[in-house]
Amino acid sequence: MATASLAETKSQRQDVLGVEDLSVEFFTEHGWTRVVDNVNIRVPRGKTVGLVGESGSGKTVTSLAAMGLLPRHGTRVTGSIQLDGRDLTTLAESQWAEVRGSEISMVFQEPRRSLDPAFTVGHQIAEVVRRHEGASKRDSHARAVEMLDAVGIADAKRRVRAYPHEFSGGMCQRVMLAIAMVCKPKLLIADEPTTALDVTVQKEMLRLMKELQREFDLSILFITHDLGVVAEMCDEVSVMYAGQVVESTGIDELFTAPGHPYTEGLLDAIPDPRARGSRLKAIPGMVPAPWLWPRSCHFFDRCTYAIADRCGTEPVPLLAGPDGRGIRCARVGELELRGIDQ
Ligand SMILES: Nc1ncnc2c1ncn2[C@@H]1O[C@H](COP(=O)(O)OP(=O)(O)OP(=O)(O)O)[C@@H](O)[C@H]1O
Ligand SMILES: [Mg+2]
Repeated sequence: MATASLAETKSQRQDVLGVEDLSVEFFTEHGWTRVVDNVNIRVPRGKTVGLVGESGSGKTVTSLAAMGLLPRHGTRVTGSIQLDGRDLTTLAESQWAEVRGSEISMVFQEPRRSLDPAFTVGHQIAEVVRRHEGASKRDSHARAVEMLDAVGIADAKRRVRAYPHEFSGGMCQRVMLAIAMVCKPKLLIADEPTTALDVTVQKEMLRLMKELQREFDLSILFITHDLGVVAEMCDEVSVMYAGQVVESTGIDELFTAPGHPYTEGLLDAIPDPRARGSRLKAIPGMVPAPWLWPRSCHFFDRCTYAIADRCGTEPVPLLAGPDGRGIRCARVGELELRGIDQ
């Protein structure tokens, strides 16, 4: 079964987000440069799918494409993005504006930069309700209070009139979640939402996102570098390397039986408190710049399992592994990779 396309084996499943064969190219000083290469990601209803990978692997560009937020000029996008079976790929900007904030929302790493310092937080939440639902000033204000309360801001009736600078970073991130959730979207894309927060605030934020997920039957695409956060939040994971998804799998399998050498490398790089004092293991080398990606396996140069005539010549598609997961490796099924000891 190792040669069947993963898209074929999973196409029947009901997904809220279906990204299929997505490629993104930017016009740069190196000419047209592909930074996202044939990416497939599926987010089932009510589930959280993690998107992990080193810096520059294309996680943010993939999510911006799913939000229709890539620049129109100097960008080429191919493939399809489906939301609940509806193709978003051909939407005009005015139609995207209707979808964003009501059907798909996004929270980013730095909430302060996304909030407008000139308006109260209540105004910024209410504005979304007015824009998408045409609610009156009074109703949208009431919804803002309700939502602030739902994201755990104490004394919401009073705090709704506060400005972003009066809030801590963690509270600003709660406000961003309130803005994202107020119109009850189907899908939330969270791009490193807790990276800038300290550990205790991070934990509260993750708990809050899980609560909101249950309450709103929300599906989440969760982008992060942090495999600890992945373990806590995600049901499934897609691992990206140099613009490609190299493995898509369930959370348990990811940690106990990685299917791609790059995934094994990421697991190896997690600090082990029992091995204090010894050198942290890192994957040798660096992610190559997009204009230097080889035609063959993108991980070829850094892979300790690579065989030149099998891995270094042809492009490798995302193949179905022995247990049905997606693995982009010419040696799929042959390798015995190390997971994390339980
Ligand atoms: N507008 C743009 N024009 C040209 N190249 C871009 C543009 N936006 C992103 N890139 C390039 O696309 C590649 C993928 O970037 P992206 O921001 O998606 O990575 P990432 O996986 O989110 O990394 P990080 O973990 O650091 O956030 C990078 O090489 C980046 O430099
Ligand atoms: Mg990013």
